[in-house]
Amino acid sequence: MDAIECIKTRMSIRKFKSEPVPKEKLLSVIDTAKWSPSYKNTQPWEAVIVSGAKKDELSKRLVEIFEKGEKPKPDIPEPESWPSQNDSRIRQLFKERSEKFGIDFSDPEYIKRAKTANFRFYGAPHGIFLFQDASLPLWSLFDIGLFAQSLMLAARAYGLGTVPQAFLTDYSSAVKEFLGIPESKRLVLGISIGYPDLEDKANSFRTDRVDINEIVKWVE
Ligand SMILES: Cc1cc2nc3c(=O)[nH]c(=O)nc-3n(C[C@H](O)[C@H](O)[C@H](O)COP(=O)(O)O)c2cc1C
Repeated sequence: MDAIECIKTRMSIRKFKSEPVPKEKLLSVIDTAKWSPSYKNTQPWEAVIVSGAKKDELSKRLVEIFEKGEKPKPDIPEPESWPSQNDSRIRQLFKERSEKFGIDFSDPEYIKRAKTANFRFYGAPHGIFLFQDASLPLWSLFDIGLFAQSLMLAARAYGLGTVPQAFLTDYSSAVKEFLGIPESKRLVLGISIGYPDLEDKANSFRTDRVDINEIVKWVE
């Protein structure tokens, strides 16, 4: 698979096969992602891979915290509002997904099910948590984003599926405590990873992108 195909066919996978991925393959994914660029080559990223019984235990803990009604406290605050242009893209996404799956996004029961599915890693056999030192500047957040995309593309090239999940950062202190990561680190993102179940309806929906003319301006 060439780079163009890899970029264009990566999509968020929301149903995985339970079969675990060999450790060497997961390490190869990270070993590829580490070649991402970063500000002055600071490489401000650390990855924790959680699998097996430990992953199930973490899932259980997150679902319990959620069901207790604890307010999310992610290290990177949840957005409270969006500029109108971006907000209309969110609305478009919700519209397309509700048409495809017959979902009412304002239904509290749906929201509960969706969050729980996130905390269960969408059935993936592994979760990857990305951390960086909390004292790092904003540029490092940019860098770890590049790392995350490289990781997801490398996974795709290795025949794996991924989904980046802000929801997995909702209870960052609990995740850090469970994984033995100090509070001085910022939990940036959780990524579920495994073999995609491409037969499942959850993976039958492909998001769209705005027309190129909406994002490019030529000055010549
Ligand atoms: C930073 C970030 C956070 C995200 N958080 C979640 C999440 O918590 N749960 C989820 O199911 N998808 C999450 N997504 C996936 C987006 O919804 C998805 O990338 C977007 O709709 C485009 O679809 P695609 O990834 O299939 O191309 C997140 C994506 C990014 C980049």
